[in-house]
Amino acid sequence: MSSEKELKIDKIKSGTVIDHLPAGSGPTVLRILGIDSKWGTSVSVAMNVSSKSGKKDIVKVEDRILQKEETDKLGLIANNATINIVENYNVKEKHHVSPSEEMIGVLECKNPKCVTNQGEPVVTNFKVESANPLTLRCKYCERIMEKELLEEQL
Ligand code: CTP
Ligand code: ZN
Repeated sequence: MSSEKELKIDKIKSGTVIDHLPAGSGPTVLRILGIDSKWGTSVSVAMNVSSKSGKKDIVKVEDRILQKEETDKLGLIANNATINIVENYNVKEKHHVSPSEEMIGVLECKNPKCVTNQGEPVVTNFKVESANPLTLRCKYCERIMEKELLEEQL
């Protein structure tokens, strides 16, 4: 079914398609992936496109596989998105992003007195207390991560 009104986003040859993202989350996803003006391979972002279950965003990145830290961060903002690994135009693997329950070694605690900021070999650990609004609490000092401080670390 093809019509002139249909939105076309090219298929990719190899790389990663992150699909079923919450509408409007595309720019945050680019930030999580470290994609900025100096990025080299082709990237497509579709925002607010219609899907079976309302509006969604899609991010397609050629020649790029996600790191664990990146999928962990996606779990904070994009529950139920799918990560499709494409090889030679075929979807070779499909993973569902699951909501993060805790974030280990990914985010910094901004409490200067926290044990994770004393130069000791202690890995940061945040419990996700709520997904909406996104609320994370440091397991060591119990400080809640402020929304702005969280966003700047994504
Ligand atoms: N895709 C792509 N390039 C390819 C293959 C797939 O950009 N070479 C994209 C598709 O456009 C789609 C996503 O990757 O957005 C997943 O592809 P596929 O599994 O074939 O689609 P669906 O079955 O519709 O996926 P789902 O069931 O996860 O919605
Ligand atoms: Zn702390």
